[in-house]
Amino acid sequence: MEIAAVPTGPVPVPGIVEHLAGGDSITPVWRNTLGGLTFRLSSGASGRFVKWMPTGTPRVDAEVARLGWAGSFARVPRVVDSGDDSTGSWMLTAALPGDSAVDARFVSNDAASRVAARAIGAGLRELHDRLPVQECPYSWSATSRIARARAAGLDLPVALDAAPPVDRLVVCHGDACAPNTLIADDGSFAGHVDLGSLGVADRWADLAVAMWSLEWNYDGGERLESELLDAYGVARDETRIRYYRALWAAT
Ligand SMILES: Nc1ncnc2c1ncn2[C@@H]1O[C@H](COP(=O)(O)OP(=O)(O)OP(=O)(O)O)[C@@H](O)[C@H]1O
Ligand SMILES: [Mg+2]
Repeated sequence: MEIAAVPTGPVPVPGIVEHLAGGDSITPVWRNTLGGLTFRLSSGASGRFVKWMPTGTPRVDAEVARLGWAGSFARVPRVVDSGDDSTGSWMLTAALPGDSAVDARFVSNDAASRVAARAIGAGLRELHDRLPVQECPYSWSATSRIARARAAGLDLPVALDAAPPVDRLVVCHGDACAPNTLIADDGSFAGHVDLGSLGVADRWADLAVAMWSLEWNYDGGERLESELLDAYGVARDETRIRYYRALWAAT
């Protein structure tokens, strides 16, 4: 399996991306573990992003639908167009301001990493506070995730069936790893991307993974975890952190 990262070598540009770019410049910005690619299309100061998923990997449709729903409430990309061809599925979004929380300037030193951890915490607080649970058509509950994983043939430990009682039901991001938070020039939270799994769940389903991803993306993970929780405004909950990390790892 590939590692999700900013591509370093040359990246083959799918035909549809060339087509959508028109005369704009094309910069590869991300390759995910499934071989999906994201490109920035730029012309002067204005920017657009194309996310392309090869045939045989999950289509972008789930994310297009969720962005359409969440866009009325939260800072997420506006979908300009989407579609598919024989090579894969794609969506074109308007650029949000800001850089990914794993941009070089946030991983380069401890002070910058702290700023990033706080922006991730503040961003999750904003998302969880703004998205209306009652109106959300999507679930990301532990039960639904476990059922989906077992239906797909995964052998999940029975211990996962005993989810801790819900602390607070919110609309979760669904993939709150650090690269999916965008940060403005002044260090404040600017927006979220990658919402294909958004749905109603306990807030710790997001928090546990967001905190965990600090270890994967920065030095000094433990200290950064408390920055994230402080900016979110909640005290550590070991039981739920442990459970939602185990569920993440298993699914
Ligand atoms: N509309 C946008 N505005 C600004 N940046 C964006 C936008 N869309 C995508 N990006 C950038 O592209 C990166 C990749 O996008 P995204 O996270 O959706 O791809 P992915 O392949 O699903 O990622 P993952 O590896 O987490 O599954 C983001 O981390 C972000 O930096
Ligand atoms: Mg992502």
